[in-house]
Amino acid sequence: RLLIIDFGSQVTQLIARRLRELNVYCEIHPFQNVTEAFLADFAPKAIILSGGPASVVHDHAPRPPASVFDMGVPILGICYGQQVMMDMLGGTVEGGKISGGGGTAEFGRAYVTPTEDRSDLLTGWFMDGSGREQVWMSHGDHVSKIAPGFEVYGTSPNAPYAITADPDRRFYAVQFHPEVHHTPNGRTLFENFVKSAGFSGDWTMGAYREQAIAAIREQVGDKRVICGLSGGVDSSVAAVLIHEAIGDQLTCVFVDHGLLRKNEADEVVTMFRDNYNIPLIHADESELFLGELDGQSDPETKRKIIGRLFIDVFQKYADQVEGAEFLAQGTLYPDVIESVSFSGGPSVTIKSHHNVGGLPEKMGLKLVEPLRELFKDEVRALGRELGLPASFIGRHPFPGPGLAIRCPGEITRPKLDILREADAVYIDQIRKHGLYDEIWQAYVAILPVRTVGVMGDGRTYDYACALRAVTSVDGMTADYYPFTHDFLGETATRIINEVQGINRVTYDITSKPPGTIEWE
Ligand code: XMP
Repeated sequence: RLLIIDFGSQVTQLIARRLRELNVYCEIHPFQNVTEAFLADFAPKAIILSGGPASVVHDHAPRPPASVFDMGVPILGICYGQQVMMDMLGGTVEGGKISGGGGTAEFGRAYVTPTEDRSDLLTGWFMDGSGREQVWMSHGDHVSKIAPGFEVYGTSPNAPYAITADPDRRFYAVQFHPEVHHTPNGRTLFENFVKSAGFSGDWTMGAYREQAIAAIREQVGDKRVICGLSGGVDSSVAAVLIHEAIGDQLTCVFVDHGLLRKNEADEVVTMFRDNYNIPLIHADESELFLGELDGQSDPETKRKIIGRLFIDVFQKYADQVEGAEFLAQGTLYPDVIESVSFSGGPSVTIKSHHNVGGLPEKMGLKLVEPLRELFKDEVRALGRELGLPASFIGRHPFPGPGLAIRCPGEITRPKLDILREADAVYIDQIRKHGLYDEIWQAYVAILPVRTVGVMGDGRTYDYACALRAVTSVDGMTADYYPFTHDFLGETATRIINEVQGINRVTYDITSKPPGTIEWE
């Protein structure tokens, strides 16, 4: 496996993504944790030193233990990683000046030209006839003298040491960020690097499945495991994987808070109980949830009530599973990576509901987290590997508090029923037009306002609703989806004709920021 030592760059996770795409297993660890003992235990086959906001010219600059350079494994330093390498191996780094030529601070696109024909790192580069490659720079400091043993493989107008290498020791150091999209050939550079380290690219989902099953068996032994199933992709894949490992030692608890979409509860129960034969408790507690939510209209109060009841209910049903010692969670790798810079880390508030926070300690349960090494797209790949239907794996995310936050104002059963019908028509339209997979999330919100309309010869006085559809990569930022007017018109007509209780349809064209994806 490959070790990525994180010095706090905003884009360290992308390094891991690029390597996983090459079927190389890697882990990111913050520099503070990487001690000599850690290195000995981890025994990496190669190491990447990430970028970061610090400056090696300052005292207390973060550094890896000097022993990384004695391990005999290939090392790639990126940006700050290059500077720290040069500094520790006998080169010189200077603080950046923002203006002037020749190795100053540089942000954005740059073009690298080769100085040597060195195929160990640069096979596949400089092939398009232009003799140069676009790369993405983002640095204040720069290397002003390379360390003994290093050669220059490539330069850019502002970075004389854009690509440097000590081929004998297989140490490589680049000034730019090969992991970002704006370095179009970055993947090839990583590919060459991992080849030089002897990785064969055999880390596939099939292999992961086998490993994960063995690990679950080893961890759990003959004990019982409870899994909170939400119907979302992560908990579903976790449940199916664990069931494959330990069969009926697994019991799933599906908390139905009455805020699910049309037919959703039935679909989940059918899929897991009937198709997969997974022991499943369908905790239908909609009365309890809707009773407590009655009359509440403040978004945070709604969330708090749902979160609190969810934990109570989950515990009540989990207590019925005799002898359970483990709780399974669909925690993913982005939730696990410790953030060095404390920015861009996972959003704890958003996740706390689904992760039934605090429960494991309260119930004295140990955690089983078979997805904690995977990114979201890898979870989907594992789901396909496990035979989960494509329609299930590609589902849009659905928030823990469910329809409660798509019903601004007071929640009532009639409003929820109307909302479920309208949402079903809208999603059906999106699927029929082949747009579902282009959209990150789409839903209907029922608005706390009634408007006047005319249908046939009669006056109507019914609810207005808003359609929402966004594109996004991670839910942190989002853009509204540019439906055609024909699509919007057809959908509005269908909703008004097919759903009793709605007589006006609007389309929400707010991006995030300044809006959020959900209305509450
Ligand atoms: P926002 O509305 O914050 O949503 O732009 C970003 C993503 O998070 C989901 N979301 C939630 N998920 N509990 C959840 O489990 C919540 O309270 C919650 N609020 C928003 C939302 O659906 C979107 O995918």
